[in-house]
Amino acid sequence: MCGIVGYLGKRNAYPVLIKGLKRLEYRGYDSAGVALLTDEHKLNVYKAKGKVADLEAYASDKDISGTVGIAHTRWATHGEPNTANAHPHMSSSGSLAMIHNGIIENYSVLKKQLIEKGVEFKSSTDTEVLIQLIDYIKTTSKVDLLTAVRSALRSVIGAYAIAILDKDNPDEIIAARKSSPLVVGIGEEEFFIGSDASPIIEYTNKVVYLDDEDIVVLNRNKEPQYVDFDNTKVDHDVTEVDLNLAQIEKGGYPHFMLKEIYEQPDCLKDCMRGRINVEANNVTLSAIIDNRKHLINPRRIIIVACGTSWHAGLIGKQLIEDFCQIPVEVEYASEFRYSNPVINNQDVVIAISQSGETADTLAAIELAKSKGAFIYGICNAIGSSIARATHTGSYIHVGPEIGVASTKAFTGQVTVLTMLALALGKERGTVDQQRYTTVISALENIPSLMLQLLEQGDMIRDISRVFTYAHNFLYLGRGYNYPVALEGALKLKEISYIHAEGYPAAEMKHGPIALIDEEMPVVVIATQNELHDKVLSNIQEIKARHARVIAIISKGDETVKKLADATIELPETEKCLEPLLASIPLQMLAYYVAIAKGKDVDQPRNLAKSVTVE
Ligand code: AGP
Ligand code: GLU
Repeated sequence: MCGIVGYLGKRNAYPVLIKGLKRLEYRGYDSAGVALLTDEHKLNVYKAKGKVADLEAYASDKDISGTVGIAHTRWATHGEPNTANAHPHMSSSGSLAMIHNGIIENYSVLKKQLIEKGVEFKSSTDTEVLIQLIDYIKTTSKVDLLTAVRSALRSVIGAYAIAILDKDNPDEIIAARKSSPLVVGIGEEEFFIGSDASPIIEYTNKVVYLDDEDIVVLNRNKEPQYVDFDNTKVDHDVTEVDLNLAQIEKGGYPHFMLKEIYEQPDCLKDCMRGRINVEANNVTLSAIIDNRKHLINPRRIIIVACGTSWHAGLIGKQLIEDFCQIPVEVEYASEFRYSNPVINNQDVVIAISQSGETADTLAAIELAKSKGAFIYGICNAIGSSIARATHTGSYIHVGPEIGVASTKAFTGQVTVLTMLALALGKERGTVDQQRYTTVISALENIPSLMLQLLEQGDMIRDISRVFTYAHNFLYLGRGYNYPVALEGALKLKEISYIHAEGYPAAEMKHGPIALIDEEMPVVVIATQNELHDKVLSNIQEIKARHARVIAIISKGDETVKKLADATIELPETEKCLEPLLASIPLQMLAYYVAIAKGKDVDQPRNLAKSVTVE
């Protein structure tokens, strides 16, 4: 994780770097730091434990001059989150400063070798090992910085996006990447670097996405120079990013998470735009049209993803099996990557990732690719590593998601999976025409139903306040709503730190029922379908054990209303689309419980938005 940002140009670097760090803070917030190089070759490094605001306070009376600098917001992997371990890290000679996102896996061997050679370390991070190694090679072999970087990176195993400042060269930043994202922004006589484009777009929309094992030398007086580890020139096209500032700001909401919850109707319209045409009774995904021969008749589909995206995958499995009659497996990418899966070129792997940078998902893709599978990506971040590593894919187009707890990306992923299942089912002739038509128009209607649901925000806030006493929550759902229960529980635990478990409702009697007492609220998704009576019995069983029940019900379900302590009504839709609606009140429930408990919902402890480490 970690956010990295760099600036080289005519402006004062400090304000650009601090603003950039704030935009990247969602990636990590254990500590923050900045290195600034003055025209007089003075390298000033300031670091603070905690958030970017703590760094600003610390640096408020310091020399913040300099038109070149690098900065970092950390999500600690090696070494506790304190000031000594905060980035930038300096080499012992004091001439180089480096920021790093990723993990140097062989750091302990390298560290031992450097210590034997007399190098002294100040932190317990893996990062410091790399900058010490670079400086050691530079000074002992008397080579320039680029040569030292190339040589050091050849001895390193792991993942990194790095940027280095050399005290003796205020005209230059050298940056490199492998398995961690890095974007270069190209302005008028100025350059930027960032973990993503958000710290850059305010100044330029021209960016270059570095590839694995690329090194870039940014020099004030030259065009950027891209090389690989062998110093062979690499060509890169400049891409224009389509991002605007409003998308990455709160727009009047107290938190990004709330903004993103309320944005969902518009996001889903964007997601469906040009893909769903109710008049023509058609769903079109260009990925399916372009890759018909790979997608039309696979032996099976394997969905790989993590966290919330994995929950979307569980819904995707039901949709694809339902509409396409293709067997689907859903795997945690982190497990899949270390398994020995029996896959071949008749299989399709769907990788789902909001950030498009999740290290485990990326590794799962590489494994599946090496075995010949055809890879379909469902990502949000345009141009992200996963989007580029897949053979084809569909973006969810919900705009940047900044809140660490995923909300609109989940509903966007489920929407794309629904369109994929419909389009593929149509191509394969496995979906009934009448059903196809009904689901298309119901899907198109989801944004306006979501708006009705969002109007219940105040009521859900009031319900939530009652439940802050709980230390444990249980979430139950069946069929299409079972993954919704898992996702609801994940949301609550992530941001309120209340332990919550999601379960298939009927499994309750096989274990979790032992936990139920008056202290443990149970959220039940109890919409009206063929399993309604069975879920009703589950509610009776819970009430018999004195727990409070919050039920998500179909509009007008008086039976459950009488039983439950609180109910939230969903407008009527197709059963397979219920997750798109049922997840909204659960997002709001988690949000308002966390707010009532005074938690930092956008940046919950220990978490980060993109998990670019294992
Ligand atoms: C969701 O609220 C999470 N913070 C997390 O589980 C997330 O969904 C997971 O890390 C996967 O991320 P991705 O979609 O960016 O790959
Ligand atoms: N491994 C480095 C550290 O612990 C960087 C962490 C990261 O990118 O997540 O400081």
